[in-house]
Amino acid sequence: SIDNEEIRTEIKFLLKQKNAVLVAHYYTEDAIQELAEETGGVIADSLEMARFGANHDAETLVVAGVKFMGETAKILSPEKTILMPTLEATCSLDIGCPIDEFSAFCDQYPERKVVVYANTSAAVKARADWVVTSSIALDVVEHLVEQGEKIIWAPDQHLGGYIQRETGADMILWDGACIVHEEFKAKGILDLKTVYPNAAILVHPESPESVVEIADVVGSTSQLLNATKNMPNETFIVATDRGIFYKMKQASPKKRFIEAPTAGSGASCRSCAHCPWMALNSLEMLRNALRDGSGEIHIPEETRLKALIPLQRMLNFQR
Ligand code: 13P
Ligand code: SF4
Repeated sequence: SIDNEEIRTEIKFLLKQKNAVLVAHYYTEDAIQELAEETGGVIADSLEMARFGANHDAETLVVAGVKFMGETAKILSPEKTILMPTLEATCSLDIGCPIDEFSAFCDQYPERKVVVYANTSAAVKARADWVVTSSIALDVVEHLVEQGEKIIWAPDQHLGGYIQRETGADMILWDGACIVHEEFKAKGILDLKTVYPNAAILVHPESPESVVEIADVVGSTSQLLNATKNMPNETFIVATDRGIFYKMKQASPKKRFIEAPTAGSGASCRSCAHCPWMALNSLEMLRNALRDGSGEIHIPEETRLKALIPLQRMLNFQR
């Protein structure tokens, strides 16, 4: 629409004026992903967002995603201004892992290494030995197993369970879950597969075990996107937020992408294949953040310095 066109022009102007760059997650709306592409920003999974932001020399990062992504950027780049379209965009995993309870949980197992998913608050990261994202969790935990370490894992029980099964690690799991991925149903996916027998099933590891079990590929958003480019299949059933279809279709315009069914596909489902917090990011609020400096991330320096250690450990980790 004309309104959107005006806002887009304004955002492009403001990005230049403020020496800012757009760091967007695949789950944000198409218009935001397009802007990131057109302005030298990035569309990425959470690990690549962290790397891109930390390495970029812009003065301001505009992080379109959810709060933990903005906080990660601030922890890594305290000298930069980190803006988000809205600070209301949180994550069910972050909400389900409050620092006081988590800290008490860790205190029960002092001999274990604390590994937390990036989808957590800065305070929870500050209590951890390692931060991981879904794209690097397997490699890090394999490394810890080789070192003979036992692990506390938080907050996503499905990702944790998957890592545990794959690596054989001794892990105690926090019982968090993602409200979006938790809804995918193996039965619905298998029913679809009878209609499209040659479809490949792509699954984000925040999905339940029964769904991970029937996957052809399990991986982070970027890893699933790469699978659609590299596999010969023409149809893909995708169990993650449908925002990623923008890049999948762009990379393979002739292929077919189908949203994996959820329990409540239809009226009763609040968040079927779409994260309600990611959806809070709008062009208008992105413009406001840049124009007014709203949605700025601040982290107490003491917390930041502690959270930096496990986060930097992740970025430095190489297999
Ligand atoms: P990725 O690191 O795979 O992008 O995952 C982030 C996330 O929140 C998935 O729901
Ligand atoms: Fe959090 Fe799930 Fe949304 Fe990802 S999709 S940000 S894990 S609630």
